[in-house]
Amino acid sequence: MILGLETSCDETAAALVTAEGEIKANVVASQVDLHARYGGVVPEIASRRHLELIGPVIDETLSAAGVTFADIDGIAVTAGPGLIGALLVGLSAAKAIAWSRGLPLIPVEHLHGHVASLYLQPTDLQPPFTCLLASGGHTLLLDVSDRGWENVRIVGRTLDDAAGEAFDKGARLLGLGYPGGAEIDRLAKEGDPAAFSFPVARVPGLDFSFSGLKTALLYTVRDLGPDAVAERKADLAASYQHAIVRALTERVHEAAGDRQIAIVGGVAANSALRASLPEAIAAPLALCTDNAAMIASAGRYSVRLTSPEFLALDAHAQSL
Ligand SMILES: Nc1ncnc2c1ncn2[C@@H]1O[C@H](COP(=O)(O)OP(=O)(O)OP(=O)(O)O)[C@@H](O)[C@H]1O
Ligand SMILES: [Mg+2]
Repeated sequence: MILGLETSCDETAAALVTAEGEIKANVVASQVDLHARYGGVVPEIASRRHLELIGPVIDETLSAAGVTFADIDGIAVTAGPGLIGALLVGLSAAKAIAWSRGLPLIPVEHLHGHVASLYLQPTDLQPPFTCLLASGGHTLLLDVSDRGWENVRIVGRTLDDAAGEAFDKGARLLGLGYPGGAEIDRLAKEGDPAAFSFPVARVPGLDFSFSGLKTALLYTVRDLGPDAVAERKADLAASYQHAIVRALTERVHEAAGDRQIAIVGGVAANSALRASLPEAIAAPLALCTDNAAMIASAGRYSVRLTSPEFLALDAHAQSL
């Protein structure tokens, strides 16, 4: 059984996963309310909150599964990419537990974790497949030939904003709450996706670009004025969402050809995206946004470090 820890952004999360990919416990303490008033994650506040939450979250995870540290065979922890101060809290907790219990420590790439959300039961997807990873910080097209991260090839990426960032920035322009992806998703159900025509940037190769779309919404909102925006908010949300979903769907089809398609990351929770890719295997809703079950899952396919080797391990802010 692997204990997974995830503190790369504003979720303090722990989970227990078996070698067969069964989730025994999955606890996520979201800090979203703490950051909402600032309209985004404040790194220093996130780190301090992780410090307060990491102990109780681990305790709750163990008791939810009815196990103790004695039942654990390894600790998988997100080593990056993410907010460095936030990552250090999870990494330090993992080192302390692994060192004191004589357990191996398994550093996990956060993005490998998102892909590994597909390897948990009952999904248990077998490579090869083409994976769209669309989250708050990343939009990647991945050629996945094996469950290890070293056999995942990036074939396309965003040149500017991530898809989740486009959702969040659009939501802010429409005066919706933070984080905005789920809000746009909800409001769009009441709107007409063809009401406004927003452009989808065509960039060479299999890359994405979302910054022009955000600017197009900005100008539309400005031209309409506050009253018309308030009246047509659902149409704006639906049309904006439609443009993002179309961009993602077109590119993933181009990249996949006749291979299996899979979608992971926070944006994979979007109902319009899921509906427009009915043939795709999507991560379960609860595993789309950050969680530690996916980190423990990735840990099953990653290198184990023993003591004292792992004590020198550092967190990293950028993708390796
Ligand atoms: N239903 C939804 N529709 C669209 N976007 C959504 C939905 N639910 C969540 N999101 C978006 O998903 C993003 C959060 O996803 P996730 O937790 O995977 O990202 P992150 O961990 O912040 O970034 P990264 O994984 O790149 O480091 C946010 O941008 C949020 O708006
Ligand atoms: Mg994430």
